[in-house]
Amino acid sequence: MNLIFLGPPGSGKGTQAKRIAGQLGLLHLSTGDLLREAVKNSTELGKKAKAYMEVGELVPDTLIIGLIEEKLRSGQLDGGFILDGFPRTIPQAETLKQMFAKNNKNINRSILLDVSDAEVIRRLSGRFYCPICNAGYNYPHQLPKKEGLCDNDGAKLMRRPDDEEAVVKNRLDVYKRQTEPIVDFYRKETILSEIAAEGAGPDEITNRLLQEIKRLKKV
Ligand code: AP5
Repeated sequence: MNLIFLGPPGSGKGTQAKRIAGQLGLLHLSTGDLLREAVKNSTELGKKAKAYMEVGELVPDTLIIGLIEEKLRSGQLDGGFILDGFPRTIPQAETLKQMFAKNNKNINRSILLDVSDAEVIRRLSGRFYCPICNAGYNYPHQLPKKEGLCDNDGAKLMRRPDDEEAVVKNRLDVYKRQTEPIVDFYRKETILSEIAAEGAGPDEITNRLLQEIKRLKKV
């Protein structure tokens, strides 16, 4: 299966894509994770992307499309995948469609995780991660055993720079202006599913997604 997980920042795309890809044996491809790794390693891509990411703006389409093309060429997408954080603009969605058509691939479904702005702000203001093992924590529901320290390696927990409140507000704004139009793009292509992704914990949302994927496999 080739899936896209769509949704605003903090809607749970990463959490759910990781779980579902693990359970279904799919590749989880997060453009956000790839970019953060590039920034951390100060690669050419990382140097170009850093300034956009820090203020919550999108990295230029050409840089991101190049990343996806590279993954496609390497054959890593051949066994099925979940795209998390891509596409994020109409040009990205159109290029993905053309790129896949040329390679006899298609997207089976684009699944929107529906979450309110208030919930996004609540989740992202409580998000912390371990810089060593990348484990995620969230205050007040997913606390480490020792305050501020990772359960796995004792490292001091950190916040993503783009989780500062002002940047989150801009990310939400950018989502509405640049990314939300692709919800309609996939609706018109009749490959859109919408899942209510708040008011329940991650386990329940995983169940909802698995139910939907099971239903799609039968259609
Ligand atoms: P990216 O990393 O993709 O950020 P995002 O889309 O803003 O998403 P997040 O990673 O913040 O949230 P998520 O939806 O994955 O939620 P999560 O599972 O972590 O992109 C970062 C930046 O990179 C962009 O701003 C842009 O600059 C650049 N970029 C990336 N892709 C690009 C592209 N294609 N084009 C251009 N630029 C691009 O969950 C969030 C928190 O909520 C966690 O703490 C989690 O534990 C908690 N949580 C999850 N589910 C629940 C639940 N059900 N109940 C309570 N808490 C929950």
